[in-house]
Amino acid sequence: MLKEDSLQRENIKPLLKWAGGKRQLNDALYSRIPGYFEKYFEPFLGGASFLVNLYNHGMIKSAVVSDLNPELINFYNVIKQCPSKFITRMEELKLTNDKDTYYSNRARFNEIVGNPDFSLERSILFIYLNKHSYNGLWRVNSSSKFNVPYGKYKTVKMIDSDNLYNFSAMLKDVQIESVDFEICVDSAEKNDFVYFDPPYQPLNKTSSFTGYTYQGFNFNEQLRLFNVFRSLTQRDVKVMLSNSYSEEIRELYSDFNIITVDAKRYINSVGTGRTGAKELIITNY
Ligand SMILES: C[S@@+](CC[C@H](N)C(=O)[O-])C[C@H]1O[C@@H](n2cnc3c(N)ncnc32)[C@H](O)[C@@H]1O
Repeated sequence: MLKEDSLQRENIKPLLKWAGGKRQLNDALYSRIPGYFEKYFEPFLGGASFLVNLYNHGMIKSAVVSDLNPELINFYNVIKQCPSKFITRMEELKLTNDKDTYYSNRARFNEIVGNPDFSLERSILFIYLNKHSYNGLWRVNSSSKFNVPYGKYKTVKMIDSDNLYNFSAMLKDVQIESVDFEICVDSAEKNDFVYFDPPYQPLNKTSSFTGYTYQGFNFNEQLRLFNVFRSLTQRDVKVMLSNSYSEEIRELYSDFNIITVDAKRYINSVGTGRTGAKELIITNY
């Protein structure tokens, strides 16, 4: 499958706002994908913007995606399996954009979080909280309770149902899991393609948001990821990784191809603002 030969599909859009979302880097990333690959792996899925980009270009034959956030993965699984039930149930719930509704939906979500008997309701409250929370952040405490305050947006667009059905169709050939990145890529073989978009290495102590999961993502995790990158390289798997323009990351991957790109990012946890305009794209091919 050559990039030039690929067909432009229905133009699907990501469903969520996600900190560290790759929309601004999509073209730079797309222009560096391998000319040919079999299965696609994306272990830090988040808002899925690059999966959507590849799919819109007709580049996905089959895919395995994952994220350690179980509520995010529950949401995608519900959209994959029962989009019409999702739309119908959404119409029955109170999902208005006001402070009282936000906090009562947040409390309800925290009551049922992780409970398999409430997958559908959890998935709806998940996107409601994603669209109405402060800066669209997803942050949980040590007991997995979501604790982001109300976002006070003037208007909120929850969902475009045509886009939701198209997104659901896209997921039909995609295996979706909530596992650690290392487990997700375990079955990758020669000529498969892995894209890693980990929580970014902070440029300084306060500038970056890495707290997507309660465990966080410290430099030891970046080292563990580097070892996985190397072992995939030894197995002839094609790997692309994006990260912040940080000295430690550049040193770590200095044996691989590194390019610097400009991107405006607004990963913003407590009003700390932008993380800087430069980012790294690293490939082993
Ligand atoms: C930078 S975001 C990915 C953004 C995504 N590419 C997008 O366009 O929205 C990093 C993601 O990694 C997930 N994550 C954190 N630690 C992880 C781990 N050990 N294994 C898998 N996913 C992890 C977080 O939940 C978060 O969604």
